[in-house]
Amino acid sequence: MSYKKIKEGLYSVGILNPNLRVFDIVMKTDFGTSYNSYVIKDKKNALIETCHHRFFDEYVENIQSVIPLNDIDYIILNHTEPDHSGALERLAELCKNAKILCSRAASVYLKSIVNNDSIKFDVVKDGDILNLGSLDLKFIAAPFLHWPDTMFTYCEGLKTVFTCDFLGSHFCEPNVTDTRISYPEKYKTALKGYFNDIFSPFIPYVRAGLEKLESVEFDTACVSHGPVLTDRGFLECALESYKTWSKEKTRTALCLPVFYCSAYGYTRKLAETAVSEIKKLVKDAETSAYDIIEHNMEDLASVMNGSDGFMIGSPTLNRNAVSPVRELLAMIDVINGQKKPIGVFGSYGWSGEAVPSIVAELKSLRLQTIGEGLKINFYPSEDDLEKMRLYTKEFCGAFNR
Ligand SMILES: Cc1cc2nc3c(=O)[nH]c(=O)nc-3n(C[C@H](O)[C@H](O)[C@H](O)COP(=O)(O)O)c2cc1C
Ligand SMILES: [Fe+2]
Ligand SMILES: [Fe+2]
Repeated sequence: MSYKKIKEGLYSVGILNPNLRVFDIVMKTDFGTSYNSYVIKDKKNALIETCHHRFFDEYVENIQSVIPLNDIDYIILNHTEPDHSGALERLAELCKNAKILCSRAASVYLKSIVNNDSIKFDVVKDGDILNLGSLDLKFIAAPFLHWPDTMFTYCEGLKTVFTCDFLGSHFCEPNVTDTRISYPEKYKTALKGYFNDIFSPFIPYVRAGLEKLESVEFDTACVSHGPVLTDRGFLECALESYKTWSKEKTRTALCLPVFYCSAYGYTRKLAETAVSEIKKLVKDAETSAYDIIEHNMEDLASVMNGSDGFMIGSPTLNRNAVSPVRELLAMIDVINGQKKPIGVFGSYGWSGEAVPSIVAELKSLRLQTIGEGLKINFYPSEDDLEKMRLYTKEFCGAFNR
């Protein structure tokens, strides 16, 4: 793709990356992605977002098919993660007449991302307006969507808002805009996956971002990944979905799942004991024992992160906890999980490192483990099961309701 006209005076000059399958180390991108970037042409011309450094040459060609680089007056970065800022240093050298505009936090990050003192950044604040001639751009602070630096840029004259990652998706749409998506259900899956991966730790900020968008009128959202959203396509769907996904939960019963792995059923016995005890001690608790290897990891992570507290059990194999337990714990939402009580247990044979190593790791993340966990030697005896009941009681005691 070279470029695509979105509206009179507004062009998409970003990069399609259909082959990407993993983003930011941990996110699956089954439908590829795109790094979107936009040119607004007026008396003065603005480029909004840059792109990943890997695609620099193609990106520069795209821009040049719309505008000579010397005619760019402003480069605006709504967010500085290197998928949007990686091309900035080399681009700034070529765009001799461009000022780089960003939030204060972004200017701090860009110093260390660009690593070139000759490149200067001009800080814009919430509510500042930049006149391009016939069009005005207004900057709207939108922190933690999903970095502290984030802002939206709004153009009333184009009825368009530039939201960077917010409302985006890892979905490589060859048509660039959203009116002819061939696989709408796959797009919706990508939209949800992106929300879960990027925005679910920042729900209050998502609500604040939606409120800010409600105060401006637009029919197009130029996002930084996936199709440009329009009122003839998925704009309404994306906004409504974000509203639904960020709604405050009104659950009455506590959700207290128990996750475990078990080679010979010993740790399973402990898990089942914990579940019966939770049922006895916490009225209406939603609780079940989940054998980790029998379930999809993303589903388990969503149960874990949506829970009020959980217990997790691992046997010791080769002086360590088992990898599916570690894999699940690696998906813990540390940002919102700080106060969540976590019980740790497991059966062992001789050295028993699993439980203490999990506890140490959770503590290092400042998560709230119940005591030092509970480890039981081989097959749990009746006495051992009683210890498990007592440990579960301690776990349940953390919920003062
Ligand atoms: C491959 C393998 C390696 C093991 N390595 C250790 C170990 O390093 N230290 C230890 O305390 N127990 C070790 N064990 C013993 C298990 O922790 C013990 O059998 C435990 O009771 C298994 O519980 P489970 O039935 O819940 O898996 C090992 C067991 C297996 C099968
Ligand atoms: Fe980002
Ligand atoms: Fe991004």
